[in-house]
Order: sequence, then structure tokens, then C-alpha cells
Amino acid sequence: MEHLAVIILAAGLGKRMRSQQAKVLHRLAGKPLLAHVLHATQRLHPDRIVVVVGHQADEVQRLCGGGGIVFAHQPQQRGTGDAVRAARSVLHDFRGDVLIVCGDTPLLTTATLARFIQSHRQQRATLSVLTAYLDDPSHYGRVIRAADGQIQKIVEAHDASPAERAVREINTGIYCVQAEFLFAALERLQPLNAQGEYYLTDIVAQAVAARLPTQALRLAEAQEIGGINTREELARMEKIRQAQLRSRWMAAGVTLQDPDTVYIDEEVTIGPDTIIGPNTQLKGNTTIGARCRIDGSAYIENCRIGNDVHLRFAVVLTDSELGDHTTIGPFAHLRDGVVLAPRAEIGNFVEVKHSSIGEHTKAKHLAYLGDAEIGRDTNIGAGTITCNYDGFRKHKTKIGDRVQVGSDTTLVAPVTIHDDVYIATATTVRHDVPAGALVFNARTEEIREGWTAAKRAKEAAKKA
Ligand code: UD1
Ligand code: CA
Repeated sequence: MEHLAVIILAAGLGKRMRSQQAKVLHRLAGKPLLAHVLHATQRLHPDRIVVVVGHQADEVQRLCGGGGIVFAHQPQQRGTGDAVRAARSVLHDFRGDVLIVCGDTPLLTTATLARFIQSHRQQRATLSVLTAYLDDPSHYGRVIRAADGQIQKIVEAHDASPAERAVREINTGIYCVQAEFLFAALERLQPLNAQGEYYLTDIVAQAVAARLPTQALRLAEAQEIGGINTREELARMEKIRQAQLRSRWMAAGVTLQDPDTVYIDEEVTIGPDTIIGPNTQLKGNTTIGARCRIDGSAYIENCRIGNDVHLRFAVVLTDSELGDHTTIGPFAHLRDGVVLAPRAEIGNFVEVKHSSIGEHTKAKHLAYLGDAEIGRDTNIGAGTITCNYDGFRKHKTKIGDRVQVGSDTTLVAPVTIHDDVYIATATTVRHDVPAGALVFNARTEEIREGWTAAKRAKEAAKKA
């Protein structure tokens, strides 16, 4: 078994993003750019992965740490060659092949990298570089080949002659290099170029000069090696990735009624025979079960949604758990740790926050339920409000099983309504109610006959 180490370059700020945030932390399909590259390389099962960090190193490590990844610091960003050299301290005892990739190429696939490494090994190459043809090679380094097709060197766009600039074969920034040669060659780099940087690309000419087996392997499909340097490139990549994710879920048995308007983050999973209507955003760590119906205009973030759930038109759901056969909406908002037991129903203009709701319980119209614990087979009438905040603290409302909460009820927390209670309409409940009781506010109802006509006559007299 040959050994493999991966170095991911992620120290740069990415000036062209014009951002306070390091480039590799910008998100594609909800996941930091670097995390995409990390996942693609982790699936190669390398012996080690080293991420070279610099700008916002702490944040990069926090977002992309774990999984046996080692971080190396590049204190000053003096070029890609200097960046790889920074990884030397953690790879000094490593013998084998080093795969070098950049942290800003999120569409890179494990399959492409595996083929690249395989070719490097079959050719017994000391250095392999992955290249591609681009119609617009713009700022990429150009691959310069001799008449016999053998690679000679890579020239950066800044340093290229007009003839070199016309070359359409570019350096993807992905290399596979034998460790011993790599670290020796890095010591010989000189920053003698237009940008005054230590160019990693210069090791190609070194390998050629030393007559070491060097290959440039051209990738037929250039899309996946695209790097992100600007916001515009980020948006373009997002489009490409969204198209891939939609295809993936449709192939897995999910209906997207208008695919172009459905946005799916990388970590989302969706069960078969789920039907998703237009303008739906599925964000973060969301899982959706089988046979669900999402009618459209839904924003769903970090939710676990069971099977056979029906989300009617226009719902916003965050950090919540929906049991099987639940129904939400239209126009409902669940947030901040709502847990719905199976077959619960949340209807029009209902907001639920940090509450658990039992099986078969319904809140179908105009309600606010916050910090509530509600049992099963309970009915929450229209206009029910949990007064959970006294201006200083949040308090709990507990409601048992088979409770009838009348319309226009205000529940002043902390308060407990035990099982089988009947709350009359328009009641303000300030005290705990024992099981099976009726609770109402004593009020007298008065009816004054002929009052409207008398009032109108009085007003008309004033005007005259
Ligand atoms: C580099 C290549 C170019 C290639 C292109 C592919 C060099 C000199 N040029 O150019 O041939 O076509 O990538 O995308 O290598 N980085 C560091 N530390 C540094 C400088 C860069 O960690 O000091 C990291 C960046 O964070 C980034 C990656 O290296 O992830 C590439 O750097 P970038 O400045 O984007 O290189 P390019 O100019 O695009
Ligand atoms: Ca780049």
C-alpha cells in the first residue's frame, strides 16, 4: 500500500471576494467551501490531511475541524509554494505521495482525485499536475508543453508572454507529488516573479530540469475544477451545485415541481415520493421523510421531518421536529425547538416556539404557543395566546391531554392546565386548573336593545 497525504491550501484571504471573511469560509449549498474540499479528500481515505490556515485560522479550524485533520499555520501569505512549505513541519516523517489541492474548489469530486492519483502511480511519476482546457483561461496559470507534448513548466498569467497567455490549457492547482522531491524543491523556490511570491507552480520546471518523470494530466470536464475568487464565481458555482443536488434528489425518487426554484443544502436528505412545490428552501441539517407534500413557498432550516407530513403553502420552520402525518400551515411559523408528535396539526397564522405538542393535538387558527408542553388529543382554539414572558423571564405553560382550550384564551405562565379541563371562551387563566374542571372568568353580559339607533340619532343631532 502506498501512502497518501493531502495538503489543502486555505490560508489566503481571497482579496477579490472583498470580504471580511476568509474565502474558504464562504458557503456553497450551505457548507463552507473548505468543507466541500475536505469531504472530497476524506473519501480517499488518506493517511493524513493537512489544512494550511492563515486568515481567520481559528474560525476555519472550528468550522472544518475534527475527523483527524491536522492544521498547519502559514503566518504570512507569501504564495502557494510558501503555503505548502508550512505543511512540512507536520509531514517531515511522511514518505509517499502528497496530493495538493486548494480550499476554494468546492465541486471537486473524489472520483476525479482517485483517477488522478491512480494515473500518477501507474506512470510512476515524481510529479503530476491536473490540467484542463478553458475557453477563457483568464487568471489561471498556463501549462507550457514542448513540441513532443511533454510538460515544461507552468507560467502564471501575470508573468506570461503574449504567446504563453494565448495557451488555453490551465493549471487546476491540483498536484500529486512524491514527498521527498516536493519538500526539497520547495526549499529552492525564489520569489522572482511579477507578484514577488513563492510559486508552488515552479516545482514543475524543477522536476523537468532534473529529468524526473513529470506528467500533466488533462481533465476532459473542466467544470468541477473551477476555483472561486469572486462573488460572481461563487454565485455561478451555487447554480451548478444546485442543479447537481436537484438531479440527485430527483434520481432518488423526489418530485420537484419546478426544480429551478427549489434550493437544497448539501447536508439535506429527502425521502422517496416526497413532492416539493415551487419556491422551497431546504437549509442546513434538515431531513425530510418519505411521501411528504410541501405545497410551496417553504423555508425549512435544521428540521427533522417525518414521513407523510403535509406542509401547506407558506411555512417557515426552523430547528424543529415534526412527527409522521403532521400537517402545518398555510402561513405557519415553527421555531426554536418545536417538537410535534405524530398527527398533530398546526394551522393558519399559528406561531409555535420551543414547545412540544402531543399526538392528534390541533392548533388550527391564529395562536401563539411559546414554551408550552401540550398533551395529546387537545384542541387549542382560535386566538389562544400563551403569555410566556413577564418582561424579565420566560415561563412554561403546561396543558394536559383532551383539554378544550376555548377561543380567545390567554394563558398567563407559569400555569398548568391538567387533563380533561374545559376552558371557556375568552378566559384569562392565571392559576393552575385541576383535571376535569371548567374554568371561566365570571363576567356579566348585558344587552341594550335599540342602543345603535339611539346613538346614531344623537350623533346626527350633533352634526346638524
Ligand atoms: C493558483 C496557481 C495557478 C492555478 C490556480 C488554480 C500558483 C502560483 N498559481 O493561482 O497556476 O491556475 O491556482 O486555481 O500556485 N494560498 C495560501 N497561501 C498563500 C497563497 C495562497 O494558502 O500564501 C491558498 C489560497 O487560500 C487558495 C489557494 O492557495 O486556496 C490558491 O491561491 P490563489 O491565490 O487563489 O492562487 P491563484 O492566483 O488562483
Ligand atoms: Ca484561485
